[in-house]
Amino acid sequence: MTAPVVTRVSKADAASVADAARVLAAGGLVAFPTETVYGLGADATDGRAVARLYQAKGRPAFNPLIAHVIDPKAAQALARFDADAARLAAAFWPGPLTLVLAKAARCPVAELATAGLDTIAVRVPDHKVARAILAAFGKPVVAPSANRSGHLSPTRAEHVLADLGGRIDLIVDGGATPVGIESTIIACLGEPVLLRPGGLTRAAIERTLGRKLAYTPSAIPRADDAPLAPGMLATHYAPRTRLRLNAHHVKPGEALLAFGSTPAEGVKRAKKVLNLSARGDLIEAAANLFSHLRALDAAGAGAIAVMPIPGEGLGEAINDRLARAAAP
Ligand code: TXA
Ligand code: MG
Repeated sequence: MTAPVVTRVSKADAASVADAARVLAAGGLVAFPTETVYGLGADATDGRAVARLYQAKGRPAFNPLIAHVIDPKAAQALARFDADAARLAAAFWPGPLTLVLAKAARCPVAELATAGLDTIAVRVPDHKVARAILAAFGKPVVAPSANRSGHLSPTRAEHVLADLGGRIDLIVDGGATPVGIESTIIACLGEPVLLRPGGLTRAAIERTLGRKLAYTPSAIPRADDAPLAPGMLATHYAPRTRLRLNAHHVKPGEALLAFGSTPAEGVKRAKKVLNLSARGDLIEAAANLFSHLRALDAAGAGAIAVMPIPGEGLGEAINDRLARAAAP
């Protein structure tokens, strides 16, 4: 299982979608685009395929995975929806929302995929390539972000190849992912709780639920000592270059991750400058976040200065990812 494999890369089309479904059915690993980031897919019902997936990612085996399904009806075979979950699913699926729910009685997803928890994370993605693969395969697909554990989430097929080439079977290249940041995770196991800010804003969710959301992952009941959302470990999103947040000026030797139209002081001396969104658009900024961080990480700078990003809307998720990337 540790032997290197040849990783094929195919442009997304009918043939590569059929190929993806065949590889999944054979217990293999396929990276494919979703609207948020590229996912690394395996047959959710095949424990050995799931084990291979953990191995390819180098992910600790206790970190549970998201099961991706074609529609809400397929999700109901995996999980129990309370009234809040049903309302959120109706409002936002398909889309960048993951629900953590009580596992259904005869849930076919491999125990390893849910790390032994009696809850399961489910999501209905909104990307035509992801949906075509789910339709062709006909079963749930577990798919963490298609990066090595602790690395940045990939928003392009090239990112996946750089990180997982030689470790997975197939990459279906559907171009850059439109949202660029992972799904928002909400646990509906009683009072709904925000577990991970992401591509769907807290405000949109709160409007639909008609109340405010708590952001307290530790408040959720869980099995044993399994971590609730290990994706929230402080070091999860980690470029090699140190990040300096809320920077208004550039120090010698630094690269700059800019935001908005006001130039940072000393921008001329920056080793490299990329702007998340010159017009201050948080949606555009989220879509650029991981690829800009990667490009600046490769610039050989002493540090990456990051200009302040407003905290509203998608800014909450962007600042969350930046804070993790900045953690030593
Ligand atoms: O946008 C996304 O969500 C992408 C695309 C590929 O769908 N996937 C993704 O998966 O970000 P991953 O594995 O990188 O992050 C999933 C997060 C992890 O932090 C995991 O711990 C958490 O979801 N999670 C999964 N099952 C859970 C559960 N039963 N309870 C609490 N957290 C859970
Ligand atoms: Mg991830």
